[in-house]
Amino acid sequence: MDVRKAILNRWSARKYDRNRLLSIDEVKTLLDSARRAPSSYNDQPWHLILGLNFDETHGKILETLSPYNREWAKDAPMLAILVARVKYTFEDRINPARQLDCGTFWGFLNVQASEMGIMCRGMGGFSPDLAREIFEIPGEYEVLMAFACGYPKEDFNQKPRKSLEEFVFRGRFGEPFDMESGG
Ligand SMILES: Cc1cc2nc3c(=O)[nH]c(=O)nc-3n(C[C@H](O)[C@H](O)[C@H](O)COP(=O)(O)O)c2cc1C
Repeated sequence: MDVRKAILNRWSARKYDRNRLLSIDEVKTLLDSARRAPSSYNDQPWHLILGLNFDETHGKILETLSPYNREWAKDAPMLAILVARVKYTFEDRINPARQLDCGTFWGFLNVQASEMGIMCRGMGGFSPDLAREIFEIPGEYEVLMAFACGYPKEDFNQKPRKSLEEFVFRGRFGEPFDMESGG
């Protein structure tokens, strides 16, 4: 499958096949593709707490989720918490791009997953404070989001998207770039 197909076939599943575990090779491929993401100064601020195939960490991540998310995410064999290092590693300065970089990491992971028939769903509905406490995440790290991955047990269901004219501008902010005429 090419990249375009992987992107067009991606959606955030909420129903997962709990009988189809992820192999360590599959997980390594997901994470290896994700870590190829660009980042400010190549500082790669992303870190993960990884719960796999219903292990103890999986159970602990479930505890941090909102009741709504916990209900569906319990069937996803992979659960993770994405954590950003707040300062650069090479100097004592806040990395203002850390969330952007971690978002790119997460995006790459999604595309790789889709290419393999695996789907993921991000979760803002969780307690970063509880995750920090349970996993002893130091203060120099920011707890960003939780996410679930696994083989979907539901049909393809992609959400609508804004048109290009709604977010691509020319001349000044708010003036649509006319994609039909090329300007
Ligand atoms: C940062 C972030 C937080 C999200 N939080 C939740 C969540 O708490 N619960 C949930 O069911 N979906 C959550 N989502 C999934 C979005 O609702 C979903 O990506 C969006 O509706 C677009 O759908 P699609 O990914 O299928 O294209 C989150 C997605 C992101 C990127």
